[in-house]
Amino acid sequence: DQSVKIAPSILSADFADFGREIQAIEAQGADWVHVDVMDNHFVPNLTFGPPAVKAFRKHVKSVMDVHLMIAPVDPSIEAYADAGADILTAHFEAGPHIHRTLQAIRGAGMKAGVALNPGTPSEAVAHVLDLCDLVCVMTVNPGFGGQKFIDMTPKIRALRAMIGDRPIHIEVDGGVDPTTAPKVVAAGADVLVAGSAVFRGGSVENPAPYGENIRAI
Ligand code: DX5
Ligand code: ZN
Repeated sequence: DQSVKIAPSILSADFADFGREIQAIEAQGADWVHVDVMDNHFVPNLTFGPPAVKAFRKHVKSVMDVHLMIAPVDPSIEAYADAGADILTAHFEAGPHIHRTLQAIRGAGMKAGVALNPGTPSEAVAHVLDLCDLVCVMTVNPGFGGQKFIDMTPKIRALRAMIGDRPIHIEVDGGVDPTTAPKVVAAGADVLVAGSAVFRGGSVENPAPYGENIRAI
C-alpha cells in the first residue's frame, strides 16, 4: 500500500553503528526513521538522549520521528527541537498536562504526537486532537523491541472515526510484521513502526534483507 509509511525503529539497529544503519534503511526504502528515547524511569530501559539524536539527524534524509518514552517531557522539548526532530511524540501517561506538552512541542517548531499505552483508551486524546499531527497506538507495552503484538484494532478504528477528515497520522508501534500489519492498516493506521521485523537477517554489510523486510510489511 503506497499510502502507508514504514518507519523502521533503530532500537533494533547496531548501537555502535547508527549512522550507517540509518543510511542503509533509507537506501532500502524506509519512509521515516523512528527513534525510541527511553529514560529508565517511564519505561524500564535506557537508550539515548538529545546529543545522540542530534548526531543521528546528520544521517536522516527523510523524516526523523522521535518517540519519547520519558517523564517528565516538558523540560526536554527544546533539546529535541535543537536535535532536529521533525515529529516529537510524548506519552499521554507521562504527565498530567498533555495539552500543555503538545502546545509546547508545536511552539518549538515540531510536529506533535501523542502515544497511548495499550491500557489507555482512545478517548484520552478526544479533546487535544486539534493539537496533534500524529497519534501513536502502542501495540506492546513500551520499553523493548521484539515483543508480541497486542491487538488494538478497536482502538485504531475508534481513533480513525474520531479524527474524521483532519490531517492526523495514526501510527502503530510494537510487534508490527507482515502478519499484523494488514490488520492495523485495515483498521485505519497509516504509519507502521517496525524494529525487529525490519532489521532481522540484515546488517550494514548486507542491507538487502532490510529492503525485503520493508516490502514484506
Ligand atoms: C517499543 C518501541 C518500539 C520498538 C518496536 O517500546 O517504542 O518502537 O522498537 O519494536 P518491534 O517492532 O520489534 O516490536
Ligand atoms: Zn517507538
